[in-house]
Amino acid sequence: MRFSKLTARIAGEGAAAWDVHSRAVAARAKGEDVVVMSIGETDFATPDPIVDEAVRALRGGDTHYTSSQGRPRLRAAIAARARARYGIAVESDGVAITSGCQNALYAAAQLLLEEGDEALVLEPMYVTYEASLKATGAVMVPVPCPAVSEFHPDIDALRAAVGPRTRAIFLATPVNPTGAVLTREELEEIAAVARQHDLWVVSDEVYADFVYEGEHVAIACLEGMAERTLTLGSLSKSHAMTGWRVGWVIGPRSYIAHMSNLALCMTYGLPGFIQEGAAIALEQDLEIVDSMKQVLRARRDKLHAAMSRAPGLNCWLPAAGMFLLLGVDRTGLSSRDFCERLYEDERVSSVDGGAFGASTAGTLRLSFAASDWQIDKGCERILRFAEALREKGDTAWPRLANS
Ligand SMILES: Cc1ncc(COP(=O)(O)O)c(C=O)c1O
Repeated sequence: MRFSKLTARIAGEGAAAWDVHSRAVAARAKGEDVVVMSIGETDFATPDPIVDEAVRALRGGDTHYTSSQGRPRLRAAIAARARARYGIAVESDGVAITSGCQNALYAAAQLLLEEGDEALVLEPMYVTYEASLKATGAVMVPVPCPAVSEFHPDIDALRAAVGPRTRAIFLATPVNPTGAVLTREELEEIAAVARQHDLWVVSDEVYADFVYEGEHVAIACLEGMAERTLTLGSLSKSHAMTGWRVGWVIGPRSYIAHMSNLALCMTYGLPGFIQEGAAIALEQDLEIVDSMKQVLRARRDKLHAAMSRAPGLNCWLPAAGMFLLLGVDRTGLSSRDFCERLYEDERVSSVDGGAFGASTAGTLRLSFAASDWQIDKGCERILRFAEALREKGDTAWPRLANS
């Protein structure tokens, strides 16, 4: 039987990047001794007040269709938080609920881009971006955020990449996988490019609540940007709610109307009891959410301290998010092979940084959302693996005089 061309456009490198992760998860399910450091999902339980509210709604019979734009209560909570925390001027009619940030991203690509259009994307980018954008038939134009500038964007390259078919700039801040937090100055420059060329900006802010150094700035709150910016977010990371699939888009009312039509075709609305639980997550300033951030920060520091000791490898201290990048290019192995062999030899799963873009080729992405004992075990195994590579002379770095 024949499939549409879309099937080829959504089956790229991004899907392949999860190979080691999928094998690790399958092995773990069989009880094998594996350390999963390949996914941006904490081991924290969703906070009780959220679960209680969802259960209350479920028991109360909240099991029917809802509106495709999302419930007013939840939209109002999202708008209030965006105003209070990030200064985005939005009311509940400027918000639509989506099935996670991923769904908001896919929808944004569908509603803004078409065949032959170009979308500039700051690279490295989360692995689903490529397929989501290419699904529309548009051309993705990566703009580097190279290691030499600590993975911050090359604004000259951004300016130079704008062409007559450019429709939008897609970015994430904080960035997955680098943990870079775009500065106000960088966002001002990106905003100036968008205004000058009349472009949309799609800003994925799913990690905004996990900034350890620096300040999260929402590009939507900069001068003249509200009418051309879509701010995407979700509760997946901030509230340990990956499986609830609650996300949103904040944008101009005209966009929200189209988004509601698309939601009607795609999801027909999110379950009501899920939205009730989600509303509590945003209405209350749950102390536990801040505690989760502190735990993640401590795990980041622990992982960074251990990886700094790995022979022949280098790492960067991420300012935000859940991931640390490990530079493996001096080992003589490609990051893909390193990732594969680390799993085969030591049963530690990671993701090849090259899957996120050329700027992170030669790195591995390690998640510190894993539990403390998993991180400890993972560090021990990675150090042993790096040492073994060095001993086998499998590496391109010089031996130390006393080894
Ligand atoms: C940058 C980025 N955007 C979007 C997503 C998808 O998040 P959600 O679970 O809200 O769909 C992820 C998930 O890891 C991510 O890292």
